[in-house]
Amino acid sequence: MDQILCMNGGEGKASYAQNSFVQEQVMSKAKPVLQETLRELYLESFPECLKLADLGCSSGPNTLLLLREIINSIDVICKQLNKKEPLFQMFLNDLFRNDFNTIFRSIPSFYEELRREKGGNFGPCFIAAMPGNFYGRLFPNRSLHFIHSSYGVQWRSQVPGNFVSEFGSPLNKGNIYLARTSPKSVLEAYLDLFKRDMTLFLMSRSEELVPEGRMVLTMIGRDASINLPDDQVSSILELLGMTVSDMVQEGLIEEEKLDNCNMPCYLPTPEEVRHVIQEEGSFHITRFETFKVTWDAEMGYGDVQLRGKYVAASIRAIAEPILAMHFGEEVMMDGLFERFARKVSQYTELHKGEYFNILVSIKNR
Ligand SMILES: C[S@@+](CC[C@H](N)C(=O)[O-])C[C@H]1O[C@@H](n2cnc3c(N)ncnc32)[C@H](O)[C@@H]1O
Repeated sequence: MDQILCMNGGEGKASYAQNSFVQEQVMSKAKPVLQETLRELYLESFPECLKLADLGCSSGPNTLLLLREIINSIDVICKQLNKKEPLFQMFLNDLFRNDFNTIFRSIPSFYEELRREKGGNFGPCFIAAMPGNFYGRLFPNRSLHFIHSSYGVQWRSQVPGNFVSEFGSPLNKGNIYLARTSPKSVLEAYLDLFKRDMTLFLMSRSEELVPEGRMVLTMIGRDASINLPDDQVSSILELLGMTVSDMVQEGLIEEEKLDNCNMPCYLPTPEEVRHVIQEEGSFHITRFETFKVTWDAEMGYGDVQLRGKYVAASIRAIAEPILAMHFGEEVMMDGLFERFARKVSQYTELHKGEYFNILVSIKNR
């Protein structure tokens, strides 16, 4: 996975940079917890240089937006206490194929804006990249005060196992991820991988954070407390899988390729997240919240066609590289995502499409 996964790079029409309003809205909803966590962290230790990392930073406006929020939060506290601002060292992490160059190009204007806004009273702030797989070690022992990750840890470290029955027939037939028709064994395999990944993630971060260091994680999850009616999908990926299935019916995609496709992500329930944190044992949970955002981040402006196009573009920005790799370049991505946009429009005419998000703030023991 660490050699394969990436979001659409650059700043073009299909790029993650141009299609990440949902993630921006998610970060904005998580802001009060971020601010509160930073406040507690800073007041407990007053570090001279605040060492931070954003894991799964991708490339786009959200990457430096987080750093701006962090600097603003600390600025407010320092002004209240009449203290000089600390230095900031920020590590931006993502996998090796991430478009770090686009981020680097935006750093000079970011520094310039900060200087204009804050005058000589801040920082300085040092930004560095740390490419690598966050399911494993990234930083030296006890070298960070704060770690953030938004919409990163729902990605898995590997494509889940090849789901075939003892007779060799595919178990997750017609789906690209867990769907209502998926057998229990497939759900269990995904859950098992999630637990293993998260345990390794937490163990690694616990070594890298100073004692009492903080971490704020936001991820897409699923709400297990509701019973889904038959006409609703369990996640947006189920709808994308239905679109691929339509293309199989049209003879545009091989059936076998669909049956072998298992997206490397898992949307956990709040209980599963809480359980894995408690079981791993390195962290103490200080905040645990859930909230929803619509699939289009309210950008469809009530126009159902526009909403479909908007949602399809946001999913394309994150899923295109991996789908192209699985189905082959010959499967025309324009065609797939045009069909998907129509499916989303039809679906959201009848149902509210929403991401269910899990937000946790945890403290290293
Ligand atoms: C949907 S993007 C979120 C980007 C950004 N945090 C935001 O909120 O806009 C998720 C990012 O996590 C990265 N990612 C997924 N698995 C990862 C891993 N194991 N190690 C490092 N980065 C990973 C992906 O490459 C992707 O750029």
